Amino acid sequence: MKNLGILLSGRGSNFVAIADSLAAGCIPNARIAVVISNRADAPGLEIARQRGLNALVIPSKGTPREEHDRAVVSALHQNKVDLICLAGYMRLLSPWFVQQFPGKILNIHPSLLPAFPGLEAHEQAFAYGVKVTGCTVHFVDEELDHGAIIVQKSVPVLDSDDEHTLAARILEQEHIAYTEAIKIVLEGKFEVLGRRMVRK
Ligand code: GAR
Repeated sequence: MKNLGILLSGRGSNFVAIADSLAAGCIPNARIAVVISNRADAPGLEIARQRGLNALVIPSKGTPREEHDRAVVSALHQNKVDLICLAGYMRLLSPWFVQQFPGKILNIHPSLLPAFPGLEAHEQAFAYGVKVTGCTVHFVDEELDHGAIIVQKSVPVLDSDDEHTLAARILEQEHIAYTEAIKIVLEGKFEVLGRRMVRK
């Protein structure tokens, strides 16, 4: 049984999608061992509690980055986490954090990386005027929104879209993409050649 650790800061819809996939048996031999939020008011945390999951708040506000990272890493170790899923975790992990879990941290980002990394990816894509955007699940390395890509889903930008309708259609694809990526990584039938994740 593989233990997943979910890190989130807000709404938690990607966390819910992962939890639903686990409950439906779509990700075999895995469970959520812990949900950690850096914000006490994250709605995703409340959902985790309602679902009877181990939900922790490790506040980041006012805490030096290194100290906060150490507390989070320690909670992940205590809960014997095998794979960490960043699900709207709006904190940059320190290089030290990333080095504690090599190849074991996934992130989801609402654009087709390497386009539009960083904050407000939908707004960036919309304002740029791209005709296709989407989402990316990737391994986390020491650079922002940068590690090897596991799954991408494309989403057309419609003339009738605004940032909100576009974000909503991307989010639907995010929920599908994250489950796919977790399955691929837990099955372990892949190798990473440079930047390329290739399935065996
Ligand atoms: C998602 O759209 C996710 O891709 C994005 O935050 C949102 C969280 O939503 N993450 C990033 O922008 C990371 N750079 P959720 O809390 O409902 O899963």
